[in-house]
Order: sequence, then C-alpha cells, then structure tokens
Amino acid sequence: MSFPLPSPQATAVITGASSGIGAALARTLASRGYGTTLVARDGARLRHVAAVLQRNGARVDTIEADLTSRADRRNVEAQIRQTGLAVDILINGAGAATRTSIPECDLGTELAHMELNVVSVVDLCRTFVGDMLARRSGAILNVASTAAFKPLHGQGTYAASKAFVLSFTRTLRAELQDSPVTVTALCPGPVPTEFARRAGFSDEEIATIPSIMWHSADDVAAMAVDAMERGAELCIPGRANVVDATMALLKAKQQAAQAVSRKTAARRD
Ligand SMILES: NC(=O)c1ccc[n+]([C@@H]2O[C@H](COP(=O)([O-])OP(=O)(O)OC[C@H]3O[C@@H](n4cnc5c(N)ncnc54)[C@H](OP(=O)(O)O)[C@@H]3O)[C@@H](O)[C@H]2O)c1
Repeated sequence: MSFPLPSPQATAVITGASSGIGAALARTLASRGYGTTLVARDGARLRHVAAVLQRNGARVDTIEADLTSRADRRNVEAQIRQTGLAVDILINGAGAATRTSIPECDLGTELAHMELNVVSVVDLCRTFVGDMLARRSGAILNVASTAAFKPLHGQGTYAASKAFVLSFTRTLRAELQDSPVTVTALCPGPVPTEFARRAGFSDEEIATIPSIMWHSADDVAAMAVDAMERGAELCIPGRANVVDATMALLKAKQQAAQAVSRKTAARRD
C-alpha cells in the first residue's frame, strides 16, 4: 500500500469540484503537486476553481457533467481516456440532499439524488478501479457523512444513501486489501458550504447546530487527503463528530440487543 505520487501521466478525478468540499479537495491536492480533473454541472464555476489552481502552476482539466445521467458518466470516462492520463486518485464528492419527509417528498427529486449519491459512486469506482489494480497504484475517496451512522428525520434518502456509500466503501476496501489500491470513506459532520441551503435548510435552522461540530471545507479536505495518504479506512473530521458517530453506533447496538432480549423473553413465555 502506497499513496500515488504526483505524476504528469496521471490525474486525480474529483466530482463535485465546483464548490464546497470538492473544490477544497482540489486545492489541497493541487497544493501537494497533483494534476486534477474537476467534474460537476456548472462549467463556469468549474473554470473559476480551475483558473485559481492554474495560477499556482497546477495542471487542471474540467468536465461538465450531470452525474445523475448515465450518458454523462460515460462521457466523463471517455473524456478522461481521451487525455491518455491514468486516474491515480478518484474522489466521489458530488452529493445532494433535500429536507422533506418520506411521505411528502418529491419522488423524482429523491430518485435523482439517489442516482447521484449512490449510483454514480458505484459507477465511477467500478469504471476506474480496474485500471488502478492493473497499474498497481491508486487511491479512492468516497464522501459519505456522519449521516451514514443514523436515521435523519426529514433526510431519509440522504442518510440512507450515505449509509450505502459507507458500506460500499468498506466492502470495496476489504476486497482490495491484498492490492496496493486504497479505499477511504470521508464522513464529515457539518461543513459551511452551499450544501445545507441547497437542501432547503434556513439560516436559523443551520445556526442551531453547535459550533463545535463545524469544520471548514479546507480543514476537512486536508484531513481527508492525510487520511488517504495513510491508507485509512475512515476519516471523521473533528472529535465532536467522532463522538456523534460513536453514540449513533452505540444506540443502534443497544436497540439490536433490546430486540434480541425481547425475542428471547417472548420465546420463554
Ligand atoms: N456540507 C456538509 O455539511 C456536508 C456534511 C457531510 C457530508 N457532505 C457531503 O460532502 C459532499 C460535498 O458537499 P458540499 O458540502 O461540498 O456541498 P456543495 O457545496 O453543495 O457541493 C456539492 C457539489 O456536488 C455537485 N453536484 C451536485 N449535483 C450534481 C450533479 N447532478 N452532477 C454533478 N455534480 C453535482 C455540485 O456542483 P454543480 O452544482 O456545479 O453540479 C457541487 O460541486 C456531498 O457528497 C455531501 O453529501 C457535506
């Protein structure tokens, strides 16, 4: 296991790189010498992120793609293959959520978010992992969330999609344990990006989240890249978020234990 070194023949593909955590990951990798390929829908914003990196001497490509579209995902693959660059690092950062209960949600929106949060992650991992294994070099980072550890009222499909990303990432990592390719899940707590507002949270609601949980996108990106370099399985930025995730896991364990003891008691009666 060794983290790929920067190479003029290789690139780090980062989805969701037009803003927030994805853009911060692009800055972090570029500052460490990596060439990047930035993917998102908004071409103007992608070019803006790219221009800042280029001013500092980095090689950057941008690809406009709606990752809910299978055709766009194939186009991302085709455009990268056309460059002749090897994908040494793959970061699945694009993601979206809504703030609505399951009975009241707009089904089309939720299914599109599941296509983005879940299907595109599976698609891009499957698309590029084979080449990484053949070259015996590569690192994958999938962006989940502390929402992966617990049910979230009003964000049912989002929390479930992040639980999927976490489980999928762990399984992929286990399958690749005898290879030099590493797989890491990033589970941030709250990060001040456009994410919460895009999901429909008001400023007042956002302000109720304790300040101890918040970490900037740049700090999260630096911790995530450090975790990838170490070949870590999981990166939960910030102690308060580690505690939050641990408490959620303990609650789930307790609920499972209670269900077992209820079943045993029912059998005895
Ligand atoms: N912010 C948080 O509190 C937080 C906490 C935990 C986990 N996360 C996760 O972190 C990741 C990044 O979120 P963020 O906080 O950086 O939010 P953000 O600023 O809203 O960034 C989301 C990114 O995803 C891209 N994206 C959205 N829909 C897309 C689509 N259909 N096709 C392609 N790209 C799409 C957006 O670009 P375009 O609009 O240009 O397409 C943007 O670059 C997400 O996976 C999110 O679930 C965020």
